Amino acid sequence: MNIDDLRNRIENEISVLKTFEDLKRIKATILGRKGVFSEYLDALKLLDKDQKRVFGKEINILKVSTEARLNEIEATLIEAERARQEDLTWVDITMPGKVPAPGKRHPITQTFEEIIRVFSSLGFAVAEGPDIELDYYNFEALNIPKHHPARDMQDTFYIKPGIVLRTHTSPVQIRVMEAQLPPVKIISPGSVYRCDHDVSHTPMFHQVEGLMVDKHVRFSDLKGILSVFIQEIFGANTRLRFRPSYFPFTEPSAEVDIGCVICEGAGCRVCKDTGWLEILGSGMVHPQVLRNVGYDPEEVSGFAFGMGVERIAMLRFGIDDIRQFYYNDIRFLSQF
Ligand code: DAH
Repeated sequence: MNIDDLRNRIENEISVLKTFEDLKRIKATILGRKGVFSEYLDALKLLDKDQKRVFGKEINILKVSTEARLNEIEATLIEAERARQEDLTWVDITMPGKVPAPGKRHPITQTFEEIIRVFSSLGFAVAEGPDIELDYYNFEALNIPKHHPARDMQDTFYIKPGIVLRTHTSPVQIRVMEAQLPPVKIISPGSVYRCDHDVSHTPMFHQVEGLMVDKHVRFSDLKGILSVFIQEIFGANTRLRFRPSYFPFTEPSAEVDIGCVICEGAGCRVCKDTGWLEILGSGMVHPQVLRNVGYDPEEVSGFAFGMGVERIAMLRFGIDDIRQFYYNDIRFLSQF
């Protein structure tokens, strides 16, 4: 009987032991009922009494030390597995937290709300009209007959003859006046459409129309209301000027400029070195428009105005490309 042989076999088995699976298998092949030790203990039976005692003792010592070694290895494997699990589930509490990113209202929506807030405080109600509009409301009733050169001012999307995507919010004036008698005091926010696309134009954009009709409404009322509005939106020190202009639905007509909010009048790229920024169109409602809705221009008068919401938002927030509003880029939108 060769105990060194036995020791070598055990040594070889243990030398490849790496995993719990290995351990299980090796335990069986060494210590199991059909394992290496059983084999030797069976062979022991064939020896005489003295040899039995000598070899029996050696085998036993080896068995006990092998069991101890395997237990030790098992403990090491358990500890390694525990450390691995700990690594997997480890939380670094010194890491900066994740800041929740709540949604925000679009800068155009914010500007709409601001404009509505100011005019509500001046007693204007909000009225709305359809985006798909009859040619009659978009043009005809506003004193823009077919083939009138003013139609070229607005590149119209036609749905079919007689029906357009509204090119401005002015048609709501007509709808409101058709539906009620004076006094009228409304603003109308909404989307408008023109076939145009560059740094300062998108095919869909937004306007707010305003209309006030009553007995004795004068141009000075228009000036007063718009002055308050401009100063609420752009600050109390904002200068404004009325510049004679032309719109078919108003007479007289004026465009309103504000002192450049970027350079404060010194001259810059945004105001094209004029120191002024055109901000809206306005005027006294044309007598023909009043007649078109059944009002008597001898009895009542009114003013109207219309402004581009993107333009106002761009100036308030210092944005130089109108298309930014519609890329839906979170990095842009989250700034407002
Ligand atoms: N509708 C005009 C446009 O889209 C803006 C406008 C100008 C509206 C003068 C008005 C006005 O009510 O009186 O360019």
